[in-house]
Amino acid sequence: MIGIFDSGLGGLTAFKEINKSLPDYSYIYLGDTLRSPYGGRSQEAVYEFTEKAVNFLFKKGCQLIIIACNTASSEALRKLQEEYLPKLNDKSKNILGVVRPLTEEAIEISKTKRIGVVGTRATINSNVYEVELQNLNKKIKTFQKDCPLLVPLIEESYTKRPETKKILKNYLRSLKDNNIDTLILGCTHYPILLKEFERIMGKKVKVIDSSKVIAKKLEDYLTRHPEIEKNLEKKKKTEYLVTDLTQNFQEMSQKILNKKIKFKKIDIS
Ligand code: DGL
Repeated sequence: MIGIFDSGLGGLTAFKEINKSLPDYSYIYLGDTLRSPYGGRSQEAVYEFTEKAVNFLFKKGCQLIIIACNTASSEALRKLQEEYLPKLNDKSKNILGVVRPLTEEAIEISKTKRIGVVGTRATINSNVYEVELQNLNKKIKTFQKDCPLLVPLIEESYTKRPETKKILKNYLRSLKDNNIDTLILGCTHYPILLKEFERIMGKKVKVIDSSKVIAKKLEDYLTRHPEIEKNLEKKKKTEYLVTDLTQNFQEMSQKILNKKIKFKKIDIS
């Protein structure tokens, strides 16, 4: 099974695309809605929550876990890969994040090597995107902007409101002034506002739809890693799990997936 982990419901944007490109596999989607949002939390807290989720998903039988959450990928993935996975000592299991695939894609696309990144405060403060872009190409200039109001606005269904457009325009001003040619949407929620990002940034800027890129890169990964792929269950089943369940969550997730789904509330602590 493939485990898709997110702090809450935003990861469903990535899961939707993953499931579209790789429909044969079995999945567990886990949203830590009890503790979300992660975006304003400390690195220690994000690591602690993410490790709990990863433990849970491996125990449930996942061989591969995708940390769809950018905040968790930025704040916890490195430690999980460097300290947690070696302790497991099981080559048939792996954990992947979203920073690497998105930075690789951005570098492929950018011509001027001026790349923008937007995300939660924790993601931007971690500076992980800039470090990763630099590791891939020293000539890259990275321009980052945290957009802490976007997650709550999206979760309150304020996507079409003029207030949201105004706030987004303000957030993107410095990136526009710096003449970036590529923008990474470094947060699970932002693809929901893709059109608005594109409209504000204008035709000269390529806005990377992170959910689509994550799906494409996962497909590549599975082709390159038959030792993991061969153990994955292919029963086209998905289990949707959350650590807290509210009416708003149910409605929002339905909007993202365009279908009604049944979530099960579980305890991962
Ligand atoms: N999933 C988070 C991310 O991609 C956004 C929501 C949160 O702050 O927990 O960064």
